[in-house]
Amino acid sequence: MKIIGLNGSARLKGNSAKLLAEACRGASDAGAEIQIVNLYPLNFKGCRSCFACKRKSNFYGKGCAMKDDFTQVMNDMLAADAWIFATPIYNGHMSSSMSALLERLYFSHCNYDAHERMVEREYRSVVIYSMNGNQQFMSKMGIENSCKYDAFLLEKGFGACKYMVANSTLQFDDYSKYHTAAVPVELKTKLSAELFPQDLNRAYELGKELATTHEP
Ligand SMILES: Cc1cc2nc3c(=O)[nH]c(=O)nc-3n(C[C@H](O)[C@H](O)[C@H](O)COP(=O)(O)O)c2cc1C
Repeated sequence: MKIIGLNGSARLKGNSAKLLAEACRGASDAGAEIQIVNLYPLNFKGCRSCFACKRKSNFYGKGCAMKDDFTQVMNDMLAADAWIFATPIYNGHMSSSMSALLERLYFSHCNYDAHERMVEREYRSVVIYSMNGNQQFMSKMGIENSCKYDAFLLEKGFGACKYMVANSTLQFDDYSKYHTAAVPVELKTKLSAELFPQDLNRAYELGKELATTHEP
């Protein structure tokens, strides 16, 4: 089986990239072929509500009509068997790049004719989020609801979706180089040293499970 891993962070060595790499390693260990796509270098925006994907025409059911770098990504995703998304939380949601992808992927495949999927086969997925805030903050601010909604769209449009959130991540290698006087750096560094390896492990297991449970 083939799995596409999508990195929704501009930082190619950041938390999302590391978590994605582990999830893909898990999938690879389970026998999957992996393709990684970094979204930030690509040139595409979100849905512009043209509704070409919903018009009564020969194009109906063929995905997003806008032609740009997303077109190849969408084609690659539909030619693969499963997807792993990794994104930082920006302002309480997935990054703008990942959000643009999901808008176009989901909307062009959401069915207004019937309550059933438009794709002919199931695409399972895993979404991995990472964020500065801890679990309490995430719950208090309703950020988990945002993650649940992404999973709901992916399930509705494509197939079973699982997600995980890596909380309390580090933003910099060396906090002393940045204006972070209000950040409890020592505590944060200690917490992250404990939690991030566990999150990498969770990502690995989710990737492995994704590759293992796939039914063509
Ligand atoms: C523009 C921006 C917005 C952010 N918004 C949030 C936020 O709303 N909540 C939060 O906990 N962390 C927030 N963060 C922190 C990142 O989510 C966190 O550092 C993440 O692990 C970065 O992932 P990366 O290394 O893959 O880029 C934000 C960071 C940036 C740059």
